[in-house]
Order: sequence, then C-alpha cells, then structure tokens
Amino acid sequence: MAPPIAVSFQAGDIGTWRIERIDPVIGDGLPPAKHLAVFEGTETPHSSARWTLRGFTSNERYVERHERVALTAVQQPLGRPAATCAALIPIRKSDAWWELTQDERREVLEMQSQHIKVGLEYLPAVARRLHHSRDLGEPFDFLTWFEYAPADAGAFDELVLRLRETDEWSFVDREVDIRLAR
Ligand code: HEM
Repeated sequence: MAPPIAVSFQAGDIGTWRIERIDPVIGDGLPPAKHLAVFEGTETPHSSARWTLRGFTSNERYVERHERVALTAVQQPLGRPAATCAALIPIRKSDAWWELTQDERREVLEMQSQHIKVGLEYLPAVARRLHHSRDLGEPFDFLTWFEYAPADAGAFDELVLRLRETDEWSFVDREVDIRLAR
C-alpha cells in the first residue's frame, strides 16, 4: 500500500488549472477564483490563495478483493497529457452516515448504491484520486479529484448524475462541483 500523500488544493490567481465553474450542489458553495493549484507533500502553499482545502490519500475502506482486482486492471494514473479536464468535488456526509458501522456503510455504498460497479463503467476514461479530510477538521470529509479528456466530459457528467441519485447521496449534506481545464 502506497504511503499517504498530503495534498492541498488552493484556489486563487495562480495554478495549472483554470477554474471554469464552481457549482454548489448541496449546501454552501465556495467563493469564486480563477485558478487552482494542487500541492502535494511538502510543497509550500502560496500566500494569495482565496481558499484552501486539505486532504490526504489513504488506505481503502470499502473495496473488496474482487473489486480491487477489477479497478487496478483498468484504472489510469493522474497527469495523462490528453486529460485536460478535471473535477474537484468536495463532499461532506451527515452525522447519520458517521453513526453507521463500517459494514452498514459498505451496505449503502455498494450493495444499495453500486458506487464501485457504476464507477467502473467510466474507467479507464476517468482517472481518480480520493482524499480524506474529515480527520483534519476540514469543512469537507472528502476531496474527490477526477481527470478526463474533453471528449469524455459528457460521460463524466452522466456518472455524477447517476451517483447523485443513489441512497449513498442521501447522506451527503454538502457538495460543491468544481470544473477545471488546463
Ligand atoms: C470515476 C469512477 C469512480 C470510481 C471507479 C469510484 C470508485 C470508488 C471507490 C472504489 C471508493 C471506495 C474507496 C474505499 O474503499 O475507501 C470510492 C469512494 C468515494 N467516491 Fe467514488 N468512484 C468514482 C467516481 C466518483 C464520483 C464522480 C464521485 C463524486 C461525485 C465520487 C465520490 C466518492 C466519495 C465521496 C467516496 C468516499 C466515500 C466514503 O468513504 O464514504 N466517486 N469511490
């Protein structure tokens, strides 16, 4: 298992990614900004950031062996030259979610909502990385990051809409959809 990577997403006047839109989906949105810089590990944050969200990669919580095999067979790394579109979707889940036990959460995430099965349909077009924020006392529990080519933007939109209709999403109490291009 790879060691955790600390990641900060800083919105402001500089950064590789141009912010195309920031849509509040559930609850409060985030202030507008022009660019997003993604810092990994020990890189120094820049001072002109309008807002910063922090998270870290971690071990998987819910994936079963057969799913990991399926995921690793098709998933792609971040940074593919053709993947010039990205989405940063910060998500917070409700107290009701966190009061569930691990096996109850797995039941909702996969048995009821088929998050992994549905997500797999969109690989290898979409590359992804999940960051955890809850244990840092951040405003969101998760910072989800996706990269895809412009030709796959419609498919990505479809995926997001499908997930938002699931039982899992009834536990989401804040979600912001940030779309980017480079
Ligand atoms: C691109 C296809 C996708 C695949 C293959 C996928 C797969 C996964 C997997 C395997 C996990 C569980 C990780 C674990 O075991 O801890 C997960 C968690 C998560 N995914 Fe996705 N996902 C996809 C798309 C999305 C999208 C589009 C969103 C947001 C709109 C999203 C939001 C999340 C969140 C918030 C979690 C954490 C859930 C929790 O721990 O409660 N995923 N995803």
